Amino acid sequence: SLKAPVITIDGPTASGKGTVAQQVAEVLSFHYLDSGALYRLTALASLKVGIDEDDVDTLVELAGDLHIVFREGCVRLDGEDVSNEIRAEHVGNRASAIAVHGALRQALIARQRAFRVPPGLVADGRDMGTVIFPDATLKVFLTASVAARAERRYKQLIEKGFSAKLDDLSRDLQARDARDSQRAAAPLKAAADALTLDTSGLSVEQTVETVVGWFRERTARE
Ligand code: CDP
Ligand code: CDP
Repeated sequence: SLKAPVITIDGPTASGKGTVAQQVAEVLSFHYLDSGALYRLTALASLKVGIDEDDVDTLVELAGDLHIVFREGCVRLDGEDVSNEIRAEHVGNRASAIAVHGALRQALIARQRAFRVPPGLVADGRDMGTVIFPDATLKVFLTASVAARAERRYKQLIEKGFSAKLDDLSRDLQARDARDSQRAAAPLKAAADALTLDTSGLSVEQTVETVVGWFRERTARE
C-alpha cells in the first residue's frame, strides 16, 4: 500500500499497551499515537469547564477546539503540560464515561489518522485495529489477568505520587473493562485479524520482542 505501515495495539486498561507501543515505536523509529490520551484530554477539559459527562454537543465542541501538542513523551493542552494530570484515575474514569458517545468518537477520528505518516506508526487504544486503522499492517491485542493489571496500575500511580488502594483499582478496572467492552460505539474487542498476547507472565522486553518479531515476519513476507 502507498500508506505508511501501522501497528495497532489494543487491549484493556493496564495490559501494557502504552509502554509496549512506545518501545516498539522506538525500536522501529516509528511515530507513536496514544489515542487514550485524546479521550483523557477531552475528559480533563470537560472537568475543567464543568460540563456533564453526557452533554454530547459540548463534548464534541470541546474536542474540536483542543489544542494538543505531543512532544518528547509529554503532552500539552492549550500550552499547559498536563502529562501527569491526565493519568489520574478520576480522569481515566471520566475518559471511559465520555468515550461511549459515538459523536465524540467521530470527532476524534481525523486527528488520530493524521498520525499515520512515514516511516510508520504504532497506535495504542481500544479501537485502533477495529475502527481507526482497519487496514493496519499488524494488529495486536494485549491482555493480562485482573490481578496483574491492578498490581501494575498500583505501582504506576504510587510512582507518580498519587495515592491508591489495590482493592479499589481492581474494582475500577473491572468496571472500566465492562463499560469499554459493552458499549455500542467501537467497543473494546480484538479485531478478527488481530494476534492476541497474554502479558501476565511476560516482561515488557519479552512483549516488545514478540511484537517487533511479528511485524518483521509480516513485512518480510510482503
Ligand atoms: O491507560 P488505560 O488503558 O487505562 O486508558 P487509556 O488508554 O488512556 O484510555 C482511557 C479511556 O479512554 C479508556 O477507558 C477508554 O474508555 C477510552 N478510550 C477509547 O474509548 N478508545 C481509545 N482508542 C482509547 C481510549
Ligand atoms: O497502556 P496500558 O493502560 O495498557 O498500560 P501501561 O500504561 O503501559 O501500563 C502497563 C504497566 O505494566 C507499566 O508500568 C509496565 O512497565 C508494566 N508491564 C507491562 O506493560 N508489560 C509487561 N509485560 C509487564 C509489565
